[in-house]
Amino acid sequence: MLQARLYDPITEHVLRLAGLGRGMRVLDVGCGAGDVSFLAAEIVGPTGAVLGIDAAADVLEVARSRAAVRGGSGPSTQGCLRFEQMTLPDVALEEPVDAVIGRLVLGHLPDPVAVLRHLSGLVRPGGLILFQDFDNFSLRVEPPTPLVRTVLKSVADALTVKGRSLGAGARLYSLFHQAGLAPARLSATTPMGGAEDATVLPLVVQTYRALSQAALPGISRGDDRARTIGDVETLLHRMHQEITTEHATVIMPTSVTAWSRTPGAGDGTS
Ligand SMILES: C[S@@+](CC[C@H](N)C(=O)[O-])C[C@H]1O[C@@H](n2cnc3c(N)ncnc32)[C@H](O)[C@@H]1O
Repeated sequence: MLQARLYDPITEHVLRLAGLGRGMRVLDVGCGAGDVSFLAAEIVGPTGAVLGIDAAADVLEVARSRAAVRGGSGPSTQGCLRFEQMTLPDVALEEPVDAVIGRLVLGHLPDPVAVLRHLSGLVRPGGLILFQDFDNFSLRVEPPTPLVRTVLKSVADALTVKGRSLGAGARLYSLFHQAGLAPARLSATTPMGGAEDATVLPLVVQTYRALSQAALPGISRGDDRARTIGDVETLLHRMHQEITTEHATVIMPTSVTAWSRTPGAGDGTS
């Protein structure tokens, strides 16, 4: 949810830029705890509908509880919002949607091109297909400071285990092409922040903590780098002190969005 706090404004901006609008029916794949579905529901409004699907039952429960809390506050300005358990690529719908969207999911699937092909068959002619992913090559601290640089290096190394690329976002354009879609339009935004930013450093620490708990190569607890980084409980404070002293800024993963339209009449924007 920290990640969503940093990236939701970027996602909302690009959803609107790509033409998501009032009254649309939207499928959000790999919806997780529902953040992108909530943004889409706000945009499509009460005459639209959003279905969030995910393979994981536990995150869907979180999404449903959050939706219940949101729906409970005042008259609804959101489109009808539902969450269902489905696993890509085995997604079937009763009716075509106006848009398929997804954040931080496509680049991590074993066969993203096949998934894109399948999903484009669920979109009406002239409808929207939009995916967002990170390009992690941007991740760094400027000017470089020793502790923060070491933490970011550990995070980047952990993200490349099992041959994974740091550049999933930058590959979206090529994936769209391979799936037979019209050339994708692209947008990229890189959040960054100094010591006064309330989200950037806590998100780095949270990511480091989660990855080191998973004991991935390059970030395992007990290795040399982990010893240099020290106690995770005090890490935020020490990183904060370091970038305050050095007037440094942390440059976060670039959020890349690619979107295209299925062949056919009209673009459905309102
Ligand atoms: C990094 S999370 C992103 C969540 C959400 N889109 C967001 O940006 O906040 C990736 C999500 O994709 C889901 N996922 C991964 N593989 C999937 C698959 N084959 N079918 C459906 N969901 C999948 C995971 O369960 C997880 O919730």
